[in-house]
Amino acid sequence: MPPKPTGPREFEPEWLKRSLDRYLTWGLAFMFVLVVSFPLYRLREPSLRADAKTEQDALYKKSGADLFSKNCSTCHGENATGGTAPTMNSKQFLGTTEDGQIVLLIAGGVSGSSMSPWSQDFGGSLTAEQIREIVTYLRSLEPKAPSVPDWRTGAKAEN
Ligand code: HEC
Repeated sequence: MPPKPTGPREFEPEWLKRSLDRYLTWGLAFMFVLVVSFPLYRLREPSLRADAKTEQDALYKKSGADLFSKNCSTCHGENATGGTAPTMNSKQFLGTTEDGQIVLLIAGGVSGSSMSPWSQDFGGSLTAEQIREIVTYLRSLEPKAPSVPDWRTGAKAEN
């Protein structure tokens, strides 16, 4: 036996109205979900970004340390503690030189000295990214950097 039809028949005005109401209700429900979830997402955004930055810094620091050890430590010393070239692991250098300046110094070198330009733009071997990695590494030394008043001569930290 076919089931007894309940409610209005398809496409009659009453049926159309109910159908429309259903769509409107779902529409409102979805809109509500969007309106609520967007601010919630925005609330989490700053910490997501901070996490991403911390993670990137950690990666940069590690590859920067490797690059430094391979390319720079013969003159600037292991861990940038000085040698025949300035001691960059020093309060005096890190406290007075901004990241952008260090990038320029590494990229362009110092004319007339054994500090050659390292950027590929000037015939060196490092990409802009690799130079930023080295700078992130050097900056990470700052919190524990010792005082080395004669840092420019490559002096070692006094203990
Ligand atoms: C062959 C030796 C040598 C190598 C290798 C070398 N440097 Fe240098 N670097 C020097 C000398 C010498 C100076 C000082 C130049 C001057 O001021 O006369 C210097 C200066 C610098 C300075 C500027 C500091 C200041 O204020 O005087 C930075 C930054 C620097 N080097 C970073 C690097 C990095 C990073 C690397 C590796 C990618 C590197 N150097 C490799 C010899 C070297």
